[in-house]
Amino acid sequence: MSDKLWSGRFSEGTDTLVEGFTASIGYDRRLYTWDIEGSVAHCRMLAKTGVITAEEAAELVRGLEQVRREIEAGAFAFDDSLEDIHMHVESRLLEIVGKVAQKLHTGRSRNDQVALDIRMYLRAETRVIIEAVGRLRSALVSLAETHLGAVLPGYTHLQRAQPVLLSHHLMAYYEMFTRDGERFRDALSRIDVMPLGAAALAGTTYPIDREYTARQLDFPRISENSMDTVGDRDFALEFTAAAAICMMHFSRLSEELILWSSVEFGFVEIADAFTTGSSIMPQKKNPDVCELVRGKTGRVYGDLMTLLTLMKSLPMAYNRDMQEDKEPLFDAVDTLKMTLAVYTRMLPNITFKTDAMARATHTGFLNATDLADYLATRGMPFREAHHVVGKAVGFALGRGKELHELSLAELRTFSDRIESDIFSFLGVREMVDRRKSAGGTATENVRSAILKARRTLARE
Ligand code: ARG
Repeated sequence: MSDKLWSGRFSEGTDTLVEGFTASIGYDRRLYTWDIEGSVAHCRMLAKTGVITAEEAAELVRGLEQVRREIEAGAFAFDDSLEDIHMHVESRLLEIVGKVAQKLHTGRSRNDQVALDIRMYLRAETRVIIEAVGRLRSALVSLAETHLGAVLPGYTHLQRAQPVLLSHHLMAYYEMFTRDGERFRDALSRIDVMPLGAAALAGTTYPIDREYTARQLDFPRISENSMDTVGDRDFALEFTAAAAICMMHFSRLSEELILWSSVEFGFVEIADAFTTGSSIMPQKKNPDVCELVRGKTGRVYGDLMTLLTLMKSLPMAYNRDMQEDKEPLFDAVDTLKMTLAVYTRMLPNITFKTDAMARATHTGFLNATDLADYLATRGMPFREAHHVVGKAVGFALGRGKELHELSLAELRTFSDRIESDIFSFLGVREMVDRRKSAGGTATENVRSAILKARRTLARE
C-alpha cells in the first residue's frame, strides 16, 4: 500500500505507469523556492491567527529551511511516486520535524498552493525580463546614436520606397520593444495577486488572514473569488501572449539581419563570434543566431497555443489539465530570456556597412515621391504630379537611368515647372531631412527621438 499524503480513502496503490504519467516533479521542481517561501508565510499566518502555536510554526519553518538547503545542495531525492514539488517538500518535512508537519497544510490545498507558486515564479521572471528588455532597448538606442546620419533605402513590399536614416529604422525596433516592456509591466500587475486561502475552491473555515500572507510575500493585493483563484491561468496566458509578440518582433529584426547579411544586400556583417560556418562550404558565414531566434519564435507561439487550448472549455474550478500549464510557460520564459540575452550581446557586434547602404539609396527611384512633391509645391495637383513622374520613371527605365541621371532638358519634357534646383532637391540627405513631420525620418526628429529614449531609459 502506498504512503501517499492523500491515500486515506484508497485501498490499492497507484499503478506505476499512472504514477509516471501523472507526476509533474520532473519539471515543477524548479518551483521549489517559491513553494517553500509560500509555505513559510502560510505557517506564520497560521500562528498569527492562532490556528497553530508559535512553537509549531517555528518548528515547521526550521524544517522547511532545511528542505530548501537540501534541495540547493543537490542532496534531495526526487521520485515520481510523490507526484509534484508540493508533496516532495511536505513529505521530507514530515521526516525532518515529525508529526507537526501534518499541520502545514491546514486551510490550504495544492490548488491554491500551485497558483501561488506559479505566480511567484512568474512575477520574479517577468521582472527579470522587463530589465532585460530595457537593456536590449538601450543597445538599440546606442546603435542609433552611433550611426546617426547613415541612410539606407526604406522598403515597402520589400521594394525600395524612400530613403530613411538607419537610426530611424533602428528606433522603429526600439518602439516595438518598448511596447513589449509595457505589456510585461501590465501583465505583471495581474500576475502580482496573492491566491493562497482559496484552498481547494471554496475558501476555508479557518480564521485565516490572507492580507497578512500577502504582506509577507510582498503582494500588493489578494485575489477576490476563491473559485476564480484556483481556476484562473489567464495571468500566465497574458505573459505568454506578451512573450509571443516580443518574439515576433525579434523574428522581424532577425529576418532583416539575415537579408542584410546576404551578398545580395551586403548591408551588415555580424561578428564571427555570433555566426557559424558550414561543414562543407568553406566560404560560408551563417547568421545562425538570427535564424534560431526566428525559429524559436514558433516555439513560443506554440506555447501560447498550448496554454489557450489547455484552458479552453475547462469547467470551474481546478482541473488536473492545468498541471500542463508549466512546461509551455517555462519554455516561453526560458526561450525569451535566452533570446534577449544573446541579442543584447550581438547587437554591438554588428558592422553596418553604411557605404553600401548609401549606394543603395541611389538606385530604385527612391526620389520619385520627392519629384512629385517638387511639382506639387510648384502648383501642380499631387495626383497629376504623380502621373507625370510615373511617365518620367518609365522614360528613365527605358534608358537604364535613374531620375537624377536624366538631363534637365529631358526632365523638362515632362514638366516645364522643373528647374535646375531639382538636382539638389533630389539629394538623398535633403529628401530625408525634409521629412520633418512628427515621427518622420528627418535627422532632427531622429536625434530628438534618441534623446527622448535615453531619458525614458534613465527614468525606468
Ligand atoms: N501538480 C498539480 C498542478 O500542477 C498541483 C495541484 C494538484 N491538485 C490536485 N488536486 N491534484 O496542477
